[in-house]
Amino acid sequence: MAALPLTGPHRAPTAPPPARHRAIAVLDRLPDLRSHLDGARAAGLRVGLVPTMGSLHEGHLSLVRRAAVDCDVVALTIFANPLQFDSREDLERYPRHREADIALAAGAGAGVVFVPTEAEMYPTPPTTTISVGRLGDVFEGASRPGHFAGVATVVAKLFNAAGPCRAYFGEKDWQQLLVVRRMVGDLLFPVEVVGCPTVREPDGLACSSRNVWLGSENRRAARSLFAALAGAAAQVEAGEGDAHVVRRRLAESVADEPLVTLDYAAVVRAADLAPLERIDEAGTAEVRLLVAAHVGGTRLIDNLAAPTDNLAAPSDRRP
Ligand code: PAJ
Repeated sequence: MAALPLTGPHRAPTAPPPARHRAIAVLDRLPDLRSHLDGARAAGLRVGLVPTMGSLHEGHLSLVRRAAVDCDVVALTIFANPLQFDSREDLERYPRHREADIALAAGAGAGVVFVPTEAEMYPTPPTTTISVGRLGDVFEGASRPGHFAGVATVVAKLFNAAGPCRAYFGEKDWQQLLVVRRMVGDLLFPVEVVGCPTVREPDGLACSSRNVWLGSENRRAARSLFAALAGAAAQVEAGEGDAHVVRRRLAESVADEPLVTLDYAAVVRAADLAPLERIDEAGTAEVRLLVAAHVGGTRLIDNLAAPTDNLAAPSDRRP
């Protein structure tokens, strides 16, 4: 396989060409994905990969657009991965819009859409899976045991199928982004992971395929997740350095909305999700605020960076 440089200067951002000028290859076999992308690399083209479970929204499309700026060929994958769902029922009810997704992906700059069947991805149930350690056991992993092993296993398989590439993941799923980065580092996948900012609705709610399940009342109530994150981030910006105070405010303001039931609220070190006592002791490491909550029957997650620039370092504090 032709190796391609995984690092190096980014080219100046250019808008992807209009959709009507681009042909899209829709593939459903693993070997076809590999040979298509091997061909692109052999021709000296940079490959970008955007793994998704479909039902595309602006969050997914932002990853495709970013990949189309950085890379010459963008492959978007659509696969609702049974290994990461809590139940078969949850998997079956996951929204699927194959044709609309292909058109949206093409419009955003994808040249390849890979839509495998379950039999193609898992001809037999896999007995080799990827365990991601502590990072997979906390927060989302504690609420959904086995979830991150399922994510890591399918992402590893997609990386092996795609070959050397840049792969684009959303900060919306902060823990997932860390899990994938860690897996790539630990197992030396020839992949450069690129994290992309969360895309939000005008009222702040993070775009998610699950938002379609919220009725209008719950949709309104769901704003409390981002409102709580923004409030807690403002509290840190105003100088609050005690992580417990910030966490309490975060938890209380999510739960202020009667239709929302908090699952967890946390103030963690961004790089490894380590819980913090004092935000000003996080040093130069970024601090992340995390929330998960049930709104009606729908579980939503969100997160935000806490701006720590205004916090005095502990040594600067008066005794
Ligand atoms: P899915 O939920 O479809 O998300 C696909 C990618 O889109 C992920 O990297 C996710 O973080 C990103 N994304 C979702 N909502 C976003 C938003 N509002 N802003 C920015 N990016 C957003 O995450 C998965 O699928 C799966 O676990 C997968 C990685 C495909 C493995 O099965």
